[in-house]
Amino acid sequence: MSITSVSTSPVASETDDQPFLRVKDLRVHFKTDDGIVKSVDGLTFDLKRGEILGIVGESGSGKSVTSQAIMGLHKNSNARITGEIWLDGKELVGASEEEVRQMRGSEMGMIFQDPLSALHPFYTVGAQISEAFMVHNKVSKKEARAQTVEMLKKVGIPNAADRYGDYPHQFSGGMRQRAMIAMALICQPKLLIADEPTTALDVTVQAQILELIKSLHEELNSAVILITHDLGVVAETCDKVLVMYGGQCVEKGLVDDLFYAPEMPYTWGLLRSMPRMDRDRQSRLLPIPGQPPSLINIPKGCVFNTRCPFSDRVEGGQCFTKHPELLDTAPNHEVRCHIPSEERREILRTEILPTL
Ligand SMILES: Nc1ncnc2c1ncn2[C@@H]1O[C@H](COP(=O)(O)OP(=O)(O)OP(=O)(O)O)[C@@H](O)[C@H]1O
Ligand code: SF4
Ligand SMILES: [Mg+2]
Repeated sequence: MSITSVSTSPVASETDDQPFLRVKDLRVHFKTDDGIVKSVDGLTFDLKRGEILGIVGESGSGKSVTSQAIMGLHKNSNARITGEIWLDGKELVGASEEEVRQMRGSEMGMIFQDPLSALHPFYTVGAQISEAFMVHNKVSKKEARAQTVEMLKKVGIPNAADRYGDYPHQFSGGMRQRAMIAMALICQPKLLIADEPTTALDVTVQAQILELIKSLHEELNSAVILITHDLGVVAETCDKVLVMYGGQCVEKGLVDDLFYAPEMPYTWGLLRSMPRMDRDRQSRLLPIPGQPPSLINIPKGCVFNTRCPFSDRVEGGQCFTKHPELLDTAPNHEVRCHIPSEERREILRTEILPTL
């Protein structure tokens, strides 16, 4: 059974040269009274239809700002955006607000980190989802209602027809997440961005919501960006991963590269901080010491240099003077670090893997 009765659009103009989503040298800088906040600073990645990309990184690393930029949500704000965002052959950074608005819902949908910010408190959940459907489909109110109830059922809202008229505050946290997923998916977006879709939900509901995203993505052959703190979720759900730190990509690759052959010291830190069931409680979490950098005063050299335990392995103090480029270390695997690949692999083998 399809998600709605509207037919899925064919895979449009994607070719190997032109993936469905291409983000190139994206910068999102906010002008504030304290200075320029460089929330995203030179981000490049590609995504094909049918792929799920995980974006991971600590709080404040620029994950949400990146997704909001793709959705065109920084237009008319204090943000200065440069670089390119190509979605299905259309460039979005230079597009007008109206053009991007047209694409939201039909071409791209987003599950927001905070469901209450996406659902208007004064309108019923059903009316809001129906409205989103009608903006992009020429259907009667009755038909939109029927499609909405179908979608609410799909996302696992019990008694969907009865709950259609409820207001957001009448839904529990898990139900609001589901309603937001319904709203994001009702127009069958070819690109779905899910920003921490399971934060603050209990484990069972988390698993159900992730399953739902996966099955809907398979059915629609959508491209999905899944933003999460949870590396376990990435391992189970994603094809590729992008690790962000201080507004930059520090490592990206296929999921197996990131879990079995990670090469960036920050990624090592993230993996070590992952909870493990086979360790006793005291030794389960090894947080990365120190704080992320200020995005107003990003350190000279490597963005991770204030916390990196390996900076003394690089000759001439380059970690503090020269910004490392993001370079290929293997096919589809890129790393930003001055330590040569061979040496990083040796460190991984002898010093990191035994501690994971
Ligand atoms: N409108 C804004 N003006 C100024 N700074 C902003 C603005 N929006 C976001 N930022 C800053 O940009 C940085 C990146 O924020 P972002 O929300 O993308 O982080 P995140 O990686 O999604 O973190 P989390 O995991 O906590 O959700 C933060 O330092 C944030 O304070
Ligand atoms: S470039 Fe230097 S500071 Fe940055 S991750 Fe590599 S070793 Fe650490
Ligand atoms: Mg966020």
